[in-house]
Amino acid sequence: MPVDNVVTLVMPSPMQVVVLAAGQGKRMHSRLPKVLQPLAGAPLLAHVLDAARSLSPARIAIVHGHGGERVPQAFADAPGLAWVRQEPQLGTGDAVRQALPLLDGAGMVLVLYGDVPLIGAATLARLARACSGARLVLLTVELADPTGYGRIVRDGAGRVLRIVEDKDASAAERAIREINTGILCAPVASLGNWLERIGCDNAQGEYYLTDVVGIAAAQGVAIDTVHPAAPWETLGVNSKTQLAQLERILQGERARALMEQGVTLIDPARIDVRGELVCGRDVEIDAGCIFEGRVELADGVRVGANCVLRNSTVGEGARIQPFCHIEDAVIGPSCQIGPYARLRPGARLAEEVHVGNFVEIKNSSIAAHSKANHLSYVGDATVGSNVNIGAGTITCNYDGARKHRTVIEDDAFIGSDTQLVAPVTVGRGATLGAGTTLIEDAPPDALTLSRARQVTIPRWRRPTKAKASGK
Ligand code: UD1
Ligand code: MG
Repeated sequence: MPVDNVVTLVMPSPMQVVVLAAGQGKRMHSRLPKVLQPLAGAPLLAHVLDAARSLSPARIAIVHGHGGERVPQAFADAPGLAWVRQEPQLGTGDAVRQALPLLDGAGMVLVLYGDVPLIGAATLARLARACSGARLVLLTVELADPTGYGRIVRDGAGRVLRIVEDKDASAAERAIREINTGILCAPVASLGNWLERIGCDNAQGEYYLTDVVGIAAAQGVAIDTVHPAAPWETLGVNSKTQLAQLERILQGERARALMEQGVTLIDPARIDVRGELVCGRDVEIDAGCIFEGRVELADGVRVGANCVLRNSTVGEGARIQPFCHIEDAVIGPSCQIGPYARLRPGARLAEEVHVGNFVEIKNSSIAAHSKANHLSYVGDATVGSNVNIGAGTITCNYDGARKHRTVIEDDAFIGSDTQLVAPVTVGRGATLGAGTTLIEDAPPDALTLSRARQVTIPRWRRPTKAKASGK
């Protein structure tokens, strides 16, 4: 049985999710809709959807509004999402009401916020279990400063009576420190029933989702509360400052998880993982590195300071020196890269290849034990094994219209400052003299060079400046 099906199997009725994502996010001061703002390289909403999917819900409905079609378009490739446009935005209660027709009335629904991205799978599983298809369950937290949030009002026996919004609360209610995170779980049919009864006679003139709590309590429905596994899970994003705070929390968690697996991080506060970083044993990562997309570092890989790696794999024991930029590349075992190397999409290095400072490699494969140690451009090339590419070598792969390939066979030696005008082949074991501009294939096992003959002019005198006369 797949592990992610366990939750659904024990549920008596199908779990469904509604994500509220219609709000504007005025305080972001951005043209980008709030739920599309990136956190760890992915839109806020993508994090919420990942958490939602951990419950294997039968359906995910997203209420959008501000940003128009840009929000659904950003998720056009994501399967199984149902979109509802809420226009105008009349409040959280109105938003959920718009989504209800998309849900199975026999099931239960979990309400999430598109701008509360750190909500965890374990917390949601506990909410779902507490609801078990029949109860109203609220996710609440105790805050030292509850200002701005809806407060959980309980009776003397501790039973939840209602939620009062900050703007509608009395002084005594404002003193309550248990707040509503907004996330809740309820049976769809009951929620629909309660939502039919809410009004908008309140300080904000909105239909409050929170008003369903008072209605349910009045009907004698038992209302449970659950706390998140970590207090930061329910933090929302309303400004760039909060976005940066959540980024640090998330990166801190990712760094902690890597260290728990045995990865050595020289400074866990200075690593950014904006995707998935998979590490083998005894991997060491120095400060200031950024990982984007899916990056795999095999056993014993060491990454020096200030490297950026995106969608790449690095083989066992490879060493990446500081300040390298590596994208869509495959680096073989025991390679030595950098410092200051740039591997662009399609760079494929076999084992023990050395790529040194200020070397750029694009769409090229380099076989085992070959070296390009200094100041070179290798593009659209197939390089054999045991090849030495001298300093300043350039593949002239582009004629202004098309790209052409360069082939360098095994054991070739390319002298420094050589231009290989593609399409061109350097034969096995060939040597190219320094400064060659190769326009025709170089035969194997021979020295090929193109060079003006060296001359010396013995009685040549270097010009001198005339000395200014002092008289
Ligand atoms: C809401 C809760 C409050 C809780 C707080 C937690 C209500 C009435 N109040 O207040 O008890 O303490 O969240 O942060 O629910 N949204 C829509 N459509 C709308 C209005 C809102 O989709 O018409 C979305 C927003 O984009 C946002 C979420 O719902 O993601 C919450 O809306 P927001 O305006 O931030 O509610 P709060 O006033 O903060
Ligand atoms: Mg809010």
